[in-house]
Amino acid sequence: MAYNEFSLIYDKLMMKDINYMNWYNYIKDIFNKFGKKPNNILEMACGTGNLTEILAKERYNIECFDLSEEMLSIAYEKLRKYKNVSIRNMNMLNFNFNKKFDSIISICDSINYIINIEDLKKTFLNVYNHLDNEGIFIFDINSYYKLSEVIGDNTFVHDEDDVFYTWENEFKDNISNFYLTFFIKENDVYHRFNEFHRERAFHIEEIVLLLKKVGFEKISTFDGLSFERPKEYSTRINFVAIK
Ligand SMILES: C[S@@+](CC[C@H](N)C(=O)[O-])C[C@H]1O[C@@H](n2cnc3c(N)ncnc32)[C@H](O)[C@@H]1O
Repeated sequence: MAYNEFSLIYDKLMMKDINYMNWYNYIKDIFNKFGKKPNNILEMACGTGNLTEILAKERYNIECFDLSEEMLSIAYEKLRKYKNVSIRNMNMLNFNFNKKFDSIISICDSINYIINIEDLKKTFLNVYNHLDNEGIFIFDINSYYKLSEVIGDNTFVHDEDDVFYTWENEFKDNISNFYLTFFIKENDVYHRFNEFHRERAFHIEEIVLLLKKVGFEKISTFDGLSFERPKEYSTRINFVAIK
């Protein structure tokens, strides 16, 4: 299973690679570029709530959800003090809020965790139905190139302070299978646990087609956290779809 005990060290590992403030600034730039001033934001797959907390401090009204209770309990500790945030345990495949939002966001390749095309279509349709007219949907994916070539069938080892892990990968039938083995030092003893994650590799055109099928008309794609067109070797692709 994914994001169980891993949630306890998620922030420690992610903060090394990801600057959530930069990501927030990019989202703000997207809002400006597309002439949007959202106030009611839905964040899907919020994880431990790092982006959510920045949005909360910036005084947006936010509803957020994630599938993993363990990730949410870390998020809850960060977010409980903000009156403008509410947190739920829901699934991207069938979430339901009985209300609409002016923006829906999902960052850090959470969408790659939907491994079946029909499920992705269902999710996009649900997003569409939860958006106001002219609402904006922003998300990113790990690119096909990254999952198939960079991560591919390679093994990575991380050894630092009190965290050691191996990340063994297998790319097969458009799916990246990640086998993670962690050793976490606690009171001079290493605690071991395993996680199995799967990410689906999507081609940009597949996603654009699905977004169009569910009704989105204006769709833009960008290389990483930029406004440049995706390139052959882009590792992260950002999508912006307007209802
Ligand atoms: C790479 S993490 C990103 C978390 C967070 N967005 C961030 O930027 O740190 C992927 C997240 O997607 C969540 N997730 C995976 N599948 C999901 C689903 N079907 N519905 C809701 N959340 C899901 C996981 O629990 C995990 O928290």
